[in-house]
Amino acid sequence: MKGIILAGGAGSRLYPLTLVASKQLQPVYDKPMVYYPLTTLVEGGIKELCLISTPHDLPRFKQLLGDGSRFGLTIDYREQEKPAGIAQAFLIAESFIGNDNVTLILGDNIFYGGDAFGRAFSEFKGGATIFGYHVNDPERYGVVEFDASGQAISIEEKPKHPKSNYAVPGLYIYDNEVLNIVRNQKPSARGELEITDVNVTYLKRGKLRVSRLPRGFAWLDAGTSSSLHEASAYVQTIEKRAGVKIGCPEEAAFRAGTLSLPQLNELTGKMPNCEYRDYLASVVAEANRLKNEK
Ligand code: TTP
Repeated sequence: MKGIILAGGAGSRLYPLTLVASKQLQPVYDKPMVYYPLTTLVEGGIKELCLISTPHDLPRFKQLLGDGSRFGLTIDYREQEKPAGIAQAFLIAESFIGNDNVTLILGDNIFYGGDAFGRAFSEFKGGATIFGYHVNDPERYGVVEFDASGQAISIEEKPKHPKSNYAVPGLYIYDNEVLNIVRNQKPSARGELEITDVNVTYLKRGKLRVSRLPRGFAWLDAGTSSSLHEASAYVQTIEKRAGVKIGCPEEAAFRAGTLSLPQLNELTGKMPNCEYRDYLASVVAEANRLKNEK
């Protein structure tokens, strides 16, 4: 399974924050926003990633994440000239995807709790898997309607009169057929290659699985000043209470087995004195303690 992080877009709702650095580089509490979707993919065991952003912002992402080796990954980079739609990502990353299945995650989506995605990656057998999450304001998103047996029967993009409260979060899993689907897709009235149209195509073919995320699961998107602030407050609350970090790709890579304990230790040692380093040092110390107890 290959992974794409889509981190372009205009970020106009966050103006003037986004005048200089893109939305996905803004802090969500104690780390850059893109760390959260990156961690979600790493936790799910994805090791080959491609990050797509604007020509203006791509160099900053390269500066931030490098070639991915410090997280035990490979990260390729591709430019999206203009925000011409989420589904365009597959065309941009075509050579990266090759013949594989692919997961796309939006760079401003923050997920926390449980291993629903990891399980979905390992159980994926073809077609498409997307998710449904109960929200208060479904009209802002793609909305899934289910029949009495729990089967998805329609998906509408930003409907005025939503048929359910289930919004589609920004993590989508597709087989390689997605490339053909997007190649043959026409832009919508707003001039974008719509991800909802891709999902509707899979639905019409009987190849779409919509998995409902459980109640205890958190999905936050950080596209407006107030949702950005709320996301920061949420992360701070959980981190302070539980003493664990959300969105820490180094820790996720270690727990997923893509980074060894000596590698994590070395990486931590190179960080400046800061709370992030202290946290990773505590992860290393705990792992060493458990190892010595064996
Ligand atoms: P949006 O939040 O819908 O758009 P935006 O980021 O451009 O923000 P605004 O509406 O405030 O101008 O996009 C969702 C995510 O998808 C976000 O992480 C940006 C990304 N995206 C792209 O990278 N390219 C695109 O063509 C589109 C439409 C979105």
